[in-house]
Amino acid sequence: MRFIIKSYGCQMNSYDSQRMEDILLEAGHRRANSVENARLIIFNTCCIREKASEKLFSDLGRVRVLMNRSSEKFLIAVTGCVAQFQAKDVLRRAPWVNIVLGPQDIQQIAAKVAESLEKRASGKLSSTTLNAKDKFKHLSGQFFHRNIAEFITIQEGCNNFCTYCVVPYARGREFSRSAAEIIQEAERLMLLGVKEITLLGQNVNAYAGEGPDGERWSLARLLAELAQLKGLERLRYVTSHPRYVDEGIAEAHEKIGVLAPSLHLPIQSGSNRVLERMNRKYTVEEYLKCVQTLRKHRPDMAFSSDFIVGFPGETEEDFQQTIELIEKVMFSQAYSFRYSPRPGTAAATMKDQVPEALKAKRLRILQDLLNEQQNAFNRGFVGKQVKVLFTKKGRHKNQITGRSEYAQAVTVCDSGISIGDMARVEVTGILSHSLIGKVVR
Ligand code: 5AD
Ligand code: SF4
Repeated sequence: MRFIIKSYGCQMNSYDSQRMEDILLEAGHRRANSVENARLIIFNTCCIREKASEKLFSDLGRVRVLMNRSSEKFLIAVTGCVAQFQAKDVLRRAPWVNIVLGPQDIQQIAAKVAESLEKRASGKLSSTTLNAKDKFKHLSGQFFHRNIAEFITIQEGCNNFCTYCVVPYARGREFSRSAAEIIQEAERLMLLGVKEITLLGQNVNAYAGEGPDGERWSLARLLAELAQLKGLERLRYVTSHPRYVDEGIAEAHEKIGVLAPSLHLPIQSGSNRVLERMNRKYTVEEYLKCVQTLRKHRPDMAFSSDFIVGFPGETEEDFQQTIELIEKVMFSQAYSFRYSPRPGTAAATMKDQVPEALKAKRLRILQDLLNEQQNAFNRGFVGKQVKVLFTKKGRHKNQITGRSEYAQAVTVCDSGISIGDMARVEVTGILSHSLIGKVVR
């Protein structure tokens, strides 16, 4: 049947959506180009920051209207983090939903669809086991289309329990896939013409999968192995936890040519008091030490980060310390969010919640500073050269866009460049969040 997957949230969710797509295509289903043309509609949900369940229920309401107007039969599935938390709620509030699968159960999608089709009238099927090992064991179907830059999830779940975060509840405990399985997946991507791989994990640098030699491999060891792949031009990994940054990874950045000199290293706050209440398990000083260690081995390393403002109990002084920290690091890019209580997490019930208006004010100040810093970082490249892997066509004729080794978006106008090319580009100017330039020949 014709299917469509609506994917919300992070890259890990996109990866899961892609794997579900492979499984469905392998089972003989076909992609639909719109919700209207689909008969199987899958909502792959995320609940890390937004009010995800409200969004889901309003989307489900819209689908219900579509179903009522049509004489065709539909199958509706809800997968991902909201499915994990609210399986019963979803089935009760939206009884037209047929299938509910948690993020570690998505490998069952084709089987559940087949089962639903058999017993259409009564079939309410749900699975929320949180068993990541099982998921990967059964995900090894055929691979269909891939882009130039793709993802591989190498590690899932989290044991850290930061007090604001739902991930340990939504995706379960930390699990690392075996190195052999990851290498095999990367080889398959190479055959499909992929040139850049981003390794994904909630704590990607805590990777400790089993190596073919029976030892536990670190991320640095895995990166060194993947770097040998023929056809691979660039490697990245995301997201790292400051707690697990070590000399080994810093050396990998010095030695591995295809490893991009950029690191996404969320700090969340520049106040030790707030970091402690967040249960982040590092201090500002330790964070700065990570930055220093990486810059020692790779002086041009670009750092990006995540920030939360208005965490419960955050004072004006705490916030000022975040501003000071930003000024010390010089981030190339950053994401910043207002703290939003997630049900079931420790911070949600902390007493001293910050008023929304104050959160909004702090977020504006923080974002202005981070934007300014990103622009300053980018301005520093004018007149210099970066290496760009081109991944998509721009809006205008001959325009083509890609990313530099520092993860900046770079656009050129050049009829001689195609998607998948890697080229040296001289930066001629900056736009609000990207670079423009000309190819050096
Ligand atoms: N409120 C606001 N931001 C959050 N993040 C995670 N949980 C919350 C929350 N409850 C942010 C963190 C994290 C990023 C993926 O999302 O900054 O690094
Ligand atoms: Fe959430 Fe903290 Fe785990 Fe990251 S390290 S997934 S923020 S609990």
